[in-house]
Amino acid sequence: MEDPLLKWRSEFPILAETTYLVSHSLGAMPRGARQRLLEYSDTWAARGVRAWAEGWWAMPLSVGDEVGRIIGAAAGSVAMHQNVSLCQSLILSCFDFAGRRNKIVYESLNFPSVMYVYEAHRALGARIVEVPSDDGVTVPLERMLATIDEETLLVPISHVLFRSGFIQDVAAITARAHEVGAMVVADLYQSAGAVPVDVTRWDVDFATGGSVKWLCGGPGAGYLYVAPRLHTTLRPRVTGWMAHEQPFAFEPGAIRYAPGVARFLHGTPSVPALYAARPGYEMVAEVGVERIRTKSMRQVQSIVERARANGFGVKSPREPEQRGGMVILDVAEGEAVARELIRRGILIDHRPGAGIRLSPHFYTSDEELAHALDEMRLILNTGAHRSTPTPKAIGF
Ligand SMILES: Cc1ncc(COP(=O)(O)O)c(C=O)c1O
Repeated sequence: MEDPLLKWRSEFPILAETTYLVSHSLGAMPRGARQRLLEYSDTWAARGVRAWAEGWWAMPLSVGDEVGRIIGAAAGSVAMHQNVSLCQSLILSCFDFAGRRNKIVYESLNFPSVMYVYEAHRALGARIVEVPSDDGVTVPLERMLATIDEETLLVPISHVLFRSGFIQDVAAITARAHEVGAMVVADLYQSAGAVPVDVTRWDVDFATGGSVKWLCGGPGAGYLYVAPRLHTTLRPRVTGWMAHEQPFAFEPGAIRYAPGVARFLHGTPSVPALYAARPGYEMVAEVGVERIRTKSMRQVQSIVERARANGFGVKSPREPEQRGGMVILDVAEGEAVARELIRRGILIDHRPGAGIRLSPHFYTSDEELAHALDEMRLILNTGAHRSTPTPKAIGF
């Protein structure tokens, strides 16, 4: 069967060299990113300080609008930052924890860096309640809904869990949160670009994510969506002059917040990262997340079937519609097998407590998936992983 999405393969140089199944960690670089980085340096060289007025200053919001189109956000409701951890800190800095409504509810399988941010706010009075998982893969929706109550301030959840690829029902969680006066922060890092996302329809209060993974945008371009209804009331304490109503007035003293999502900015943005990220967004938008999702569901299912046929454990949700773009395989001596796969040019990763994570993206061919699973079987049959040299790498 002809796969029309394979025509995009030539846009990604690394696909000629490797079997690239690691977009849940770092999406392949589109060749356009190099071009945009050259454009950045040429602009800096030729236009110098004038570049700020010619686009650089506006980039955190103009690039934010490009992300907005992928996640269903209205124009003017997404601000670019460096990463998710910072965006979560910025959101938290809008609140205090002195009153009864100081409970933070999230799944125990939340991304650890996000947990670190919330845990650090216990010192200011935040109460953290983790909703447990029975199987390390899924989080029961009923349990999540029942934990959100009148004392809940924020519900910072992952749309797709990094540990298992389980898709949470953000709309249902948001409806429950709003019923009791709580707010939802949706971490879209493992979904946007692979699974349809619609922050407006879900009615979430905040959303955040980054560009490194499914958006193929590289590091340094995290995004923060704030529902327009909150643009006039919240007063972030993580702030800076870009959030000021008149930054170039250089008024001393307390900040006068800008209207709109600009009030959720702080200092000088990471301009090169924003240049580098745009080709990925453009391509994902052009291919279309619905088409990416249709292909992803088919390929994820085929990995699951091949894995089961090989006797590998599958630590992904049972129902295809509950799975995001990656599959987690529980393979004996998984860490060593992962190292050997990487040595053979099959790029995947291994996470402790999870297993070998692998993911197709719109540029992946069925042959690559078959190759990866065949090699995994071969490695285990021959014990090749027992003599793979340990790299100096740090786990990526
Ligand atoms: C769900 C989720 N959130 C956040 C992150 C990364 O956070 P940060 O942008 O702060 O590095 C990841 C990266 O793996 C992730 O999977």
